[in-house]
Amino acid sequence: MKVKVGKKLEFDKDGIYRLHVDNNDLILISKEGQFFCLENRCSHEDFPLEDGDLEYHDGLPCIVCPAHGAKFSFEGKALCLPAVEDIKSFEVLIEGDEVFVKLA
Ligand code: FES
Repeated sequence: MKVKVGKKLEFDKDGIYRLHVDNNDLILISKEGQFFCLENRCSHEDFPLEDGDLEYHDGLPCIVCPAHGAKFSFEGKALCLPAVEDIKSFEVLIEGDEVFVKLA
């Protein structure tokens, strides 16, 4: 199911945007014109990721959990301790100037 989450212009600044889509708590990461969507939950102790920082891990862009520093790739892969499990990622589709997230 594809759900519209807003216009590209709303997410044009690099950063992390919180989304509530169909009872799902998600984050949209905007980075240099590209968009990525992840669940807003760290797999370590379930803290939200929305206030995390965008950094690099071995040259790979990542989001850092603000609670204890776990890092996840923009595809949701756990990159370092204390997280060992990946988190869910969702496909982002751009159609014209609109942004959609594919939930399933
Ligand atoms: S809850 Fe994210 S690192 Fe602990």
